[in-house]
Amino acid sequence: MADRVAIILAAGISQRMNTQLAKVLHEVCGRPMLAYVLDACRQVGVARIHIVVGYTAEQVKERFGDSEDIVWVRQEEQRGTGHAVLCCKEHLKDFEGETLVLCGDGPLIRAETLKTLIGKHQGETAVTLATAVLDDPTGYGRIIRDAYGNIEGIVEHSDCTSEQLAIREVNPSYYLFNNKVLFEAVEKVRPDNVKKEYYLTDALSVIIATGHKVTAVTAVRPEEAMGVNSRAQLCVASKIMQHRIQQELMDNGVTIVDPDNTWIDVRAQIGQDTVIEPFTYIHGEVKIGRGCRIGPFAYLRSGTALKDDVVLGVFAEVKNSTLGRGVRARHQSYIGDAAVGQNVNIGAGSITANFDGEKVNQTNIGDNCYIGSGSILIAPLELKDGTHINAGTVVSQEDVDKFGRKD
Ligand code: UD1
Ligand code: CA
Repeated sequence: MADRVAIILAAGISQRMNTQLAKVLHEVCGRPMLAYVLDACRQVGVARIHIVVGYTAEQVKERFGDSEDIVWVRQEEQRGTGHAVLCCKEHLKDFEGETLVLCGDGPLIRAETLKTLIGKHQGETAVTLATAVLDDPTGYGRIIRDAYGNIEGIVEHSDCTSEQLAIREVNPSYYLFNNKVLFEAVEKVRPDNVKKEYYLTDALSVIIATGHKVTAVTAVRPEEAMGVNSRAQLCVASKIMQHRIQQELMDNGVTIVDPDNTWIDVRAQIGQDTVIEPFTYIHGEVKIGRGCRIGPFAYLRSGTALKDDVVLGVFAEVKNSTLGRGVRARHQSYIGDAAVGQNVNIGAGSITANFDGEKVNQTNIGDNCYIGSGSILIAPLELKDGTHINAGTVVSQEDVDKFGRKD
């Protein structure tokens, strides 16, 4: 196998996003955009990933931390994608292998596409790039081919002639380069364009002009090609990702009654034959067992683990809690920072009061308990197996201990 590394470009100023947060940290279905690009690189087994960061470098580093396979590269001034690649020269000038170059703002990337790219990159080829054909190519670099279909170059939207604007084959920015050829070429790129930037896309023209072979494969599905430059595009990308997440869950045997009115985090795991009713929002690392019934209008938050056959109904909110097999909380309840045993019934409107104004406290409820409607369980609290709480009770540990002594 050829030695392979990656460069992910993530230093842009992202004016169109209008944000103080690094663009690549904006989340798509619960994870930062950059996380998806990193995953795709790791899935195709690259040895090192060079992430080019700019003025928001510290934010990005803090989020992703130090990982053995990440090399952080600083681009002080954002002078274009070609210049961003050039900033990696110090690390890669002697590298003899292949270099994947990707953008951090392309969260819809699939590892399969990179595999196709790698598979097509053979023999004398100096660059293989993946392309997509879009109904609306606005904003993307256009792929220019000659009469025989050979690629001649990429022209950015802002530099296109009216004829070129009509081209629907675009550059999603998924490239695989022979590393030496890449660095020779980016050094030669000049900022001869409307934006006066050093474009990576111009490196291709340089490479073609020097007689190297460049292959362009139409391997990217339209819904995977998207780069996120604005909040509106972030929303579109999130929708596409949401569709993917739900599709995969349905393939795994989960019923989603109304996909358009359900939101499920990419980190969630849901077991077979669980039914997700409309207007359910699952956010963060949430595990749901088999045969559960969730919603309508349920809100599950990070750290929630539901065993099998749990029923959560309207306006049930669960955070950082484990619910045992067969727990039922069918109407308006909040369960936060709790461990609930098997077959517990949590009546309508009952809640754990987990925050005392200073800290968050834990509630432990044993098996087969009955919590009557409208109860407030004041944490920290421990209820033994089989505890019966009458409807409308405010329960504190002190009360429980007192009743316990009476028994
Ligand atoms: C780029 C491509 C375009 C392609 C599109 C796909 C170029 C010149 N254009 O355009 O052909 O269709 O992506 O989404 O490459 N960045 C840096 N440093 C810089 C400038 C940019 O690291 O100085 C990073 C950005 O953070 C971003 C990526 O490079 O992650 C692409 O930059 P962006 O400005 O979004 O390029 P597009 O105009 O989208
Ligand atoms: Ca972009």
